[in-house]
Amino acid sequence: MIFTVAIDGPAAAGKGTISRAVAEAFGFAHLDTGALYRAVGVKGGDPVLAAQTLSPADLARDDLRTLEAGQAASRVAVIPEVRAALLAFQRRFARRDGGAVLDGRDIGTVICPEAEVKLFVTASALVRARRRWLELGGDAAERSLEDVLAEVQERDARDMNRTDAPLKPAADALMLDTSELTVEAATARAVAQVQARLAQMQG
Ligand code: CDP
Ligand code: CDP
Repeated sequence: MIFTVAIDGPAAAGKGTISRAVAEAFGFAHLDTGALYRAVGVKGGDPVLAAQTLSPADLARDDLRTLEAGQAASRVAVIPEVRAALLAFQRRFARRDGGAVLDGRDIGTVICPEAEVKLFVTASALVRARRRWLELGGDAAERSLEDVLAEVQERDARDMNRTDAPLKPAADALMLDTSELTVEAATARAVAQVQARLAQMQG
């Protein structure tokens, strides 16, 4: 069965959390496409060459989730040749047999416009920054909430304003604002959407 769930949205909206839960609920494979850009960003050197030669070891680095890696990712993500080098792998993954969930910025618009389910996950910038800050340790973190908020807003602006594959909802994406939702509630809504689409296709 070919079935793609495309999950896009800004930083720390809850895309990864929802994607992992949907993949687990339906036995689909999951690809965090942000990790590809983070790996290219932290690898250094020529970003186009880094994207063309990305290896499993690059994706296994333990520094991919830092704020710096997020910034580096969004800087290389504006380069069309970098995006082009990562396209075929993501497309193949999306249409693999057995179902796939991909989360990122351009899954529903560029990577897989034919996706069976498209979700655009959002939350207010302050809620998203607070989530990231709590992940970093909250009051014990080396970064203040204001720092994290500035980082999130800078990255969102760069992602929304680039020419190639900017962050924006696909015309047919379902909007899911998680500002006031628990992880469980947000996940349940996403699972229900996939369930409904599967039922529609079978019936
Ligand atoms: O993948 P993305 O950057 O969009 O977000 P994430 O890593 O899935 O979620 C960021 C943080 O927000 C995690 O610590 C989640 O547990 C939390 N979260 C939340 O508090 N409420 C939600 N509805 C979704 C995520
Ligand atoms: O988890 P979070 O939302 O903070 O970031 P991410 O999904 O790991 O993505 C890191 C950066 O990679 C984003 O800010 C984008 O600049 C870029 N990215 C992209 O351009 N296209 C994608 N499909 C995924 C990520």
